Amino acid sequence: MLKIVNVVGARPNFMKMAPIHRRMQHSNEFAPLLIHTGQHYDDRLSRSFFRDLGMPEPDRYLGVGSGSHAVQTAQVMVDMEKVLLEFRPDWVVVVGDVNSTLAAALAAVKLHIPIAHVEAGLRSGDRQMPEEINRILTDSIADLLFVTEKSGLDHLCAEGRHGAGVHLVGNVMIDSLVEQLPFIEQDPILESMGLRPASFALLTLHRPSNVDDPQVFAAIVEALDLLQQQIELVFPIHPRTEKMAGQFGLLARLQKMNNLRLLPPLGYLPFVRLMKNARLMLTDSGGVQEETTFFGVPCLTLRENTERPITIEMGTNRLVGSNTAAIVAASQPFLNGGTAQFQIPPLWDGQASQRIVEIFAALN
Ligand code: UD1
Ligand code: UDP
Repeated sequence: MLKIVNVVGARPNFMKMAPIHRRMQHSNEFAPLLIHTGQHYDDRLSRSFFRDLGMPEPDRYLGVGSGSHAVQTAQVMVDMEKVLLEFRPDWVVVVGDVNSTLAAALAAVKLHIPIAHVEAGLRSGDRQMPEEINRILTDSIADLLFVTEKSGLDHLCAEGRHGAGVHLVGNVMIDSLVEQLPFIEQDPILESMGLRPASFALLTLHRPSNVDDPQVFAAIVEALDLLQQQIELVFPIHPRTEKMAGQFGLLARLQKMNNLRLLPPLGYLPFVRLMKNARLMLTDSGGVQEETTFFGVPCLTLRENTERPITIEMGTNRLVGSNTAAIVAASQPFLNGGTAQFQIPPLWDGQASQRIVEIFAALN
């Protein structure tokens, strides 16, 4: 049996790891352990996802919490090293691009434990993004690279990584969507909020480049003010964003907007039900660009770049940046009933985690 340590830490990790961990649990070829670093710790960013995704309690919770990049990364490394020495796994599996991803991989590589990185090869080309550094460094020390889209293969190849160990497997985040769809459809959020399908736009924001800079954040808030005069806006606000909005004096302005509904971060099932029924998505999230592509919901990404270009080439995504006029102008065709052309990218079929466990099983 392969002893595998599966690592999660922050919101976008849970829906990526849940299907992999479940398939490993259901196979007699694996002995998987689930380790939660505690990078995200609020119920609404963490525990609610365990419930919504049917994940088991983690085998260890490291309780690392918030801090500067160095503090958070170092603390995960210190605590993860102890766990890895205790369990001595055959493999460590990390997903995505958060600080916990890189920190767990660094702890493993120094103990000569092989690493698998799920969602390898994505590159925004923007080294100001903390996630871009996490992606590059994690890939460089990983032994198995599981890739979601062709651009990932191209970037890895350009960095000298090709052949054995690099696998285009599809998108595990879409596995969770497909698995949870019956429960997503049953979630009562639309009814409880009195929202009709396609009558509202949904918004998420949390990238430091948007919310940690007062001028950029103010330009986005100005766009939201104009847009909410045209369509109801639903905004589950990330704690980083709420904190910065408070510091910049923007929270009161958001709260005063008549047609903007400010909510706490939502659980997975209600959030995805809202997304699936939104007329338009506005976001700077990585994962949301992929989920809207799967559902064919028009998505405007408030960034200058994306590490997920297939969502633009095949899907419903468009980059609009953070300029007030650009956000408002790009929204217009969709507010007036327009739809986006889309195709679902290859292998985004709900079977990516199955491909991953088969590749592991073949190593055994
Ligand atoms: C992190 C990831 C980012 C990911 C995002 C998903 C890194 C570098 N960033 O950003 O890639 O897109 O998660 O949501 O790993 N906070 C709480 N409660 C929590 C967690 C955080 O209130 O449970 C607040 C704290 O004030 C904290 C701030 O949010 O300082 C930022 O948290 P942190 O984990 O450092 O980064 P995120 O912005 O959440
Ligand atoms: N999400 C959620 N509730 C919210 C906002 C997002 O369940 O209020 C989900 C979303 O559907 C996707 C994931 O969280 O599955 C994306 O995580 P996030 O945007 O925090 O991180 P990123 O993808 O940008 O790293």
